[in-house]
Amino acid sequence: MPSSRLSRRSAIHALGLATAWSISPLRAGLAAAATRDTPDFIDALVARMTLEEKAGQLTLMASAWGGDRAAGLNPPGGLSDFDKQIEDAVAGRLTGVFNGNGAAMALRLQSAVMERSRLKIPLIFAADVIHGHRTIFPIPVGEVASFEPELAQRTARAAAFEAAGAGIDWTFAPMVDIARDQRWGRAMEGAGEDVLLGRLFAAARVRGFQGDNLAADDAMMACAKHFAAYGAAEAGLDYSTADLSERTLREIYLPPFHAAFAAGCGTTMASFNEIAGVPSTANHWLLTDLLRGEWHFPGVVVSDYTGDMELIAHGVARDGRDAARLAFLAGVDMSMESDLYRLHLPGLVRDGHVPEAAVDRSVRRVLAMKAMVGLFDNPLRRIDPAREAARSRRPETMALAREAARKSIVMVRNQGGVLPLPRASRIALIGPFAAGPHDIIGGWSVYGDDAQGVDLATGLRAAGGHVTVVAGCAIDAPLPGGIAEAVAAARAADVVMLTVGESQDWSGEAQSRAEITVPQAQQQLAEAVAATGKPIVVVLKNGRALALSGAVRNAAAILVTWQLGSESGHAIAEVVYGDHGPQGRLPVSFPYESGQEPYHYDHKTTGRPQPPGPLQPYKAHYHDLPDAALFAFGHGLTYGKITYADLTMDRTTMPWDGTITVSARLTNHGARAAQEVAQLYIHDRVASITRPVRELKAFAKVALAAGETREVRFTLRRADLLFIGLGLTPTVEPGQFDVWIAPSAQDDGVHGTFELLQT
Ligand code: BGC
Repeated sequence: MPSSRLSRRSAIHALGLATAWSISPLRAGLAAAATRDTPDFIDALVARMTLEEKAGQLTLMASAWGGDRAAGLNPPGGLSDFDKQIEDAVAGRLTGVFNGNGAAMALRLQSAVMERSRLKIPLIFAADVIHGHRTIFPIPVGEVASFEPELAQRTARAAAFEAAGAGIDWTFAPMVDIARDQRWGRAMEGAGEDVLLGRLFAAARVRGFQGDNLAADDAMMACAKHFAAYGAAEAGLDYSTADLSERTLREIYLPPFHAAFAAGCGTTMASFNEIAGVPSTANHWLLTDLLRGEWHFPGVVVSDYTGDMELIAHGVARDGRDAARLAFLAGVDMSMESDLYRLHLPGLVRDGHVPEAAVDRSVRRVLAMKAMVGLFDNPLRRIDPAREAARSRRPETMALAREAARKSIVMVRNQGGVLPLPRASRIALIGPFAAGPHDIIGGWSVYGDDAQGVDLATGLRAAGGHVTVVAGCAIDAPLPGGIAEAVAAARAADVVMLTVGESQDWSGEAQSRAEITVPQAQQQLAEAVAATGKPIVVVLKNGRALALSGAVRNAAAILVTWQLGSESGHAIAEVVYGDHGPQGRLPVSFPYESGQEPYHYDHKTTGRPQPPGPLQPYKAHYHDLPDAALFAFGHGLTYGKITYADLTMDRTTMPWDGTITVSARLTNHGARAAQEVAQLYIHDRVASITRPVRELKAFAKVALAAGETREVRFTLRRADLLFIGLGLTPTVEPGQFDVWIAPSAQDDGVHGTFELLQT
């Protein structure tokens, strides 16, 4: 079969990724800083800087202010440490701080620098604003379940409005790491397992954080992290080795970064992990050849937290000086938290190990970033304690949090139409997540507060529900008499709502789980309550896909509710009572068992695929399980009853430079309105490289009133059929393709075939 390779440039254009970036003013500014066209004032500043001051501009430290939730993330420090940090900043030994607390802190630091430092270069204030600032939105993977990138753009915009109001110029978000292994705790922080969702949500979040004008007082610079393949950690163990082919890297893990940069993201963070023996922080190929050479990324590369120092533990650097040299020469412009650049860069330059011109180039990039977020125009632009309070948790932001939470809920099962519940139902609300100020907002929030979140009991009662609350057990341990009390409450009720799952502290950084199951104490509670025979609605709390079993798996209804943020309880109540139908879809496959991980829907066929039907010998399946998900990627039910019919194509051959339009008719046979997410998948039947069983290429949310039929229509073009070919470049090959429009990756929906013709 002849193979036609597009040049990378044309492929990128075909994907429409480069356009936005090439015309963005941000790119022009950053690109200028990386070349001789640097604005004069930046060049003039660099010319006046000592080597120590240059190293200072490349050194970012955690805020020593501490307090609030930031204390849990930053090294503990009293005010005396903060005073010392002010003196460091005044002496030019710091480029900025991160994860401090608000405008009051920023005001003290920035004022000191502007009044007393030699060069008066403003500090930059960074923070992990991951899923909201004071108003907390659903954890990122939960929000992706909305299948609405535009929603993520709005929540990122609202987060920027609050956070920039608190003096924050730069967020360490979005995390755009693909997560194909649900044992990996940071699955909660990304867009799940799929590349298309990864790309669309990366770009949407960047647009949201950065807004139309990065210098505005409600915009923050974004940071696409963690570059790269952090989610490919062996056995899902956070920080662990990634050893993957360059093809998989380019086809699966890199596209969301590219999409983020195409949307104007001006910074990226080197990942902690190694790839094939080379830690990213020391990976010249990744950070320089690919990022700068191939992608022409003009922005700032920051290390992750002490990532450069960790080159010693990785075993590729002898000591701190060696680590600083390796990281800097690989392409890390700015060092986070280790202090290694400040300690060693000047000496490395003086001894001839690092060219000063390279240091100057990194400093120019950092100064250009500060210029871009408006700091040279007004260093106090985002620092105003009154505005910080005025922007915090405004009613419209809370309403958005509720909308986002509601749209993130995925109903994966609803036997006999047990949901929605009549408001008159007497509910036994059982389980460790039923009530109380914990495990509501999600774990990756520096400034949010569970005590300000709405728990489920409060949400149901506020909606007029009749609720008896019994914890029954703790998250990971039985409670004395807990099961007996729960069983009694279940017997006295019409329906049980069983809130089980994970603590929000079990996902996120360093939170890998070998078994992604409901903890034993909760499972025992579920079995005892199920034995009463009452209908059970499981409200799952989860930061990742879970492997469900027994009474939890077999419950009449299951709502996947992640950690939904500030408005959690209200949003769940709206769905439970049917004020709004569920409309979320799984962005991660729920396996039958933990042992299937890493499991992702877009796996290969293998040479021995298991055909539909009973398990056959010598085929690709486990002894005890099919090679499939319990709840598939893309799955999610509505309160309607949707059927798919009549796949039609405007032609059966796609011309090389043409399109093909694929449509299907969706009918809601149910008695209630529904928001259906129709998904278009393809499969390339024969190619020079093995192709996944299915790949998501498009999706659309379709509102269907009771009894309504609508046509959903998608247009495919050659660029949608790209893969990374034998020569490791984007490639399209002519031939036959399967196409499905379906409600999930495992559902047949409606199916057709077409042929791509080479002219
Ligand atoms: C995490 C990053 C985060 C940084 C700063 C690191 O441990 O991996 O995602 O941005 O800390 O808080």
